[in-house]
Amino acid sequence: MRTVRIHSWGGPEVLRLEERPPEVPGPGEVRLRIRAIGLNRTEATLRSGRLPARPPLPSKIGFEAAGEIDALGTGVTGFAVGERVAVIPAFNAARYALYGEQSLAPARSLVRIPDSVRDEETLPTAEYVINRLNDYDLSHLLLMGTNTDVTGSPLEHLAGDGMFAHFRKLYQGTLIANVEMDARRAERLIADDLADMIAFGRPYIANPDLVERLQSGAPLNDIDWPTVYASGPAGYTDYPVLARAAA
Ligand SMILES: Cc1cc2nc3c(=O)[nH]c(=O)nc-3n(C[C@H](O)[C@H](O)[C@H](O)COP(=O)(O)O)c2cc1C
Repeated sequence: MRTVRIHSWGGPEVLRLEERPPEVPGPGEVRLRIRAIGLNRTEATLRSGRLPARPPLPSKIGFEAAGEIDALGTGVTGFAVGERVAVIPAFNAARYALYGEQSLAPARSLVRIPDSVRDEETLPTAEYVINRLNDYDLSHLLLMGTNTDVTGSPLEHLAGDGMFAHFRKLYQGTLIANVEMDARRAERLIADDLADMIAFGRPYIANPDLVERLQSGAPLNDIDWPTVYASGPAGYTDYPVLARAAA
């Protein structure tokens, strides 16, 4: 079976497609025939060597997948061979070979996929979940916009602000928009009533005085990736604030 492994740290070019023998599920594990995988920041962090605890190389990789159970390890109850399941990522991203045609997965991380949901129905599943969230008295829904190229895919209309336009109609509570925001985009999303609030991630890491910078229209520091998750003060206490940057 074909699987992806990494032999060195780096960009997507270090992902290698390899032929490997199928693995036998251990206690509490199942083997899956993978139908779809999710791409998550966690694997990008692993692949680039930025995880605090680097696994030995070559390393497996994969965090999210959907597939069909094709073998059960000892002690697994409640699941059967042939069932369609999704994997909830609750383990180390190097532990299982979910980027592959077949992979082991811990049974404790599986959820059954209802018959009414087909493997390719990514958007209807998200729409269903977000609709159901209306039944709960939640403080907010934080919606992450797409920052991948969805051109030519069935999700093309979710590019840019499309994600917020699409789900704003479905969710009745407070909606927080996130991913690659700046002051102008934030103000536009609020003015167009596509979000109630805006969340910033990387700008907060890189700008201890983010609020003042946004208020005054000052330029933002970029995140310094080599210091993210690193030990020592660099990347935690040394991003310049405006007054010091100007001095
Ligand atoms: C170094 C780093 C660590 C993060 N850790 C978490 C986390 O533990 N939990 C979480 O929900 N999001 C986490 N995020 C995601 C951010 O909250 C945010 O959703 C993401 O950075 C996109 O927003 P941005 O474009 O403003 O950075 C992390 C992001 C970065 C860059």
